[in-house]
Amino acid sequence: MKNTERLAVETTGNNMGSYEETYQSFDWSQVEKAFTWSQTGKVNAAYEAIDRHAESGKQDRIALMYSDPNRNETYTFKEMKEKSNQFGNVLRRIGIKKGDRVFIFMPRTPELYFSFLGTIKIGAIVGPLFEAFMEVAVKDRLENSEAVALVTTPALLERVPVDELPHLKHIIIVGTPEETPEGYYNFAEEMQKSSTELEIEWVNREDPMLMHYTSGSTGKPKGVLHVHNAMIQHYQTGKWVLDLQDGDIYWCTADPGWVTGTSYGIFAPWLNGVTNVIRGGRFNPDDWYQTLAKNKVTVWYSAPTSFRMLMAAGDEVVKKYDLSSVRHILSVGEPLNPEVVRWGKQVYGKRIHDTWWMTETGGILIANYPQMEIKPGSMGRPFPGVQAAIIDDEGNELPPYHMGNLAIKTPWPSMMRQIWKNPEKYQEYFRIPGWYISGDSAYKDEDGYFWFEGRLDDVINTSGERVGPFEVESKLVEHPAVAEAGVIGKPDPVRGQIIKAFVALRAGYHASDELKEEIRMFVKTGLAAHAAPREIEFKDKLPKTRSGKIMRRVLKAWELGLPTGDLSTMED
Ligand code: WT7
Repeated sequence: MKNTERLAVETTGNNMGSYEETYQSFDWSQVEKAFTWSQTGKVNAAYEAIDRHAESGKQDRIALMYSDPNRNETYTFKEMKEKSNQFGNVLRRIGIKKGDRVFIFMPRTPELYFSFLGTIKIGAIVGPLFEAFMEVAVKDRLENSEAVALVTTPALLERVPVDELPHLKHIIIVGTPEETPEGYYNFAEEMQKSSTELEIEWVNREDPMLMHYTSGSTGKPKGVLHVHNAMIQHYQTGKWVLDLQDGDIYWCTADPGWVTGTSYGIFAPWLNGVTNVIRGGRFNPDDWYQTLAKNKVTVWYSAPTSFRMLMAAGDEVVKKYDLSSVRHILSVGEPLNPEVVRWGKQVYGKRIHDTWWMTETGGILIANYPQMEIKPGSMGRPFPGVQAAIIDDEGNELPPYHMGNLAIKTPWPSMMRQIWKNPEKYQEYFRIPGWYISGDSAYKDEDGYFWFEGRLDDVINTSGERVGPFEVESKLVEHPAVAEAGVIGKPDPVRGQIIKAFVALRAGYHASDELKEEIRMFVKTGLAAHAAPREIEFKDKLPKTRSGKIMRRVLKAWELGLPTGDLSTMED
């Protein structure tokens, strides 16, 4: 199991210094001094991200560099301040108060970012939803959060079951006045009526700011709540992991519907005052390289699936573009194959730095740093101020090379503070006193590098997107032909895992390829494209416990041709 391969340090980059020394001496209170709240006790993360720069000499620096096939726009820190102020005033005029949930369901365009920041500025809680969500996914989230306002587009509004959401009082449409239904607000018209000056709501650092829904192995998606204090971690990991320095042009490829797209697609770059590149639209190798080349991107944060797709697109494509501006490359979301790290070094001439964290952790906890050797395949070492360990189910720390629970000593600044309206689920993460249990299994080597092994629950990670099997199963059984369904992740060379569904049909229905496709489309249009099973296999009967729970581990064993293990709880 010992790994001897090393990629040497390329630059010393930022001011982190020697990893070992910094890890020993660092504590979070050093970071807090960078912000005004150390004097006033009150804070607002959107102010710290935008206004602080607009007021201290960086007003004309480009904050947002946006492009999609139809739009090319840039906004300075001053303009971002004004736009987000205007949106804050729009919400205030409508009657939105501190603590209210305001959700945003729209594609990645500048309006999304104005809305996001404006919501936070008035102390409301923002909930960004991924644009690929279909009706059930949207409904579950708006219902559970009791969102009172929603910012969306005319096209996406069709997936919002407004009549079934009694709490949802206000809808703001980003589109033309003609496309804005009676009784709804038009974004542009409301913005125009609003002042560019705003009374910011100064909040306590522990006040709620942001919600992201994420999946577990059972139950509906969980609302993970983050607070303003998370900015401490976004700021410092931005400096030392993303290596953000004055003048950088940074591109994070994630959508704000996922936590990477907020912690590192909004907060980390702007808290550090750098230019943030946002590219709308879908993945395409040429477009991606063009985005790097045209915008002269210096720091690039993406995901293993994207790197694997770029690798599959071939080395010739890379040569068509001048990527010499790129100084630092990072990855998150799923295991980064050593082979991809080697390939990256060869074609980009740069190391790809793996990072590990989760929706619940709010920020990076384990990473490879610019000034540290990389062992390809390892997630790296804990961030200063973070204690990570491999523990057994009783909480005992395990020695190097022993597989166990990847756990983090509580707390850290960006840790989630609640699962919305579900304290029991929240407690499950902290069932071993003093520790946060990630649900990942991993081991540590003798140098303190962490190596990912897998999920300990049934959560599926497909192309870096986290999918709960229960949500997919629930949707599948709504189809008239489906009696029972069990869903697992099946290993896949490009996507990491794909979703595979085992389905038992109702009497009177017959297995066919047409029916498979129909069921697939049913999930795709009802839940979300990324949640639709790529493979469906019909079975007469599914393995279940005597209490009727589908045994996904047996399905997995069938799929992989492995022994099924203990079947004592299985029904006859
Ligand atoms: C799960 C969290 C917040 C980042 C985006 C995903 C897996 C994350 C790595 C990595 C191997 C990783 C874990 C984790 N994961 N980073 N570097 N290597 N696996 O956030 O959707 O909350 O998913 O993603 O299994 O538990 P998420």
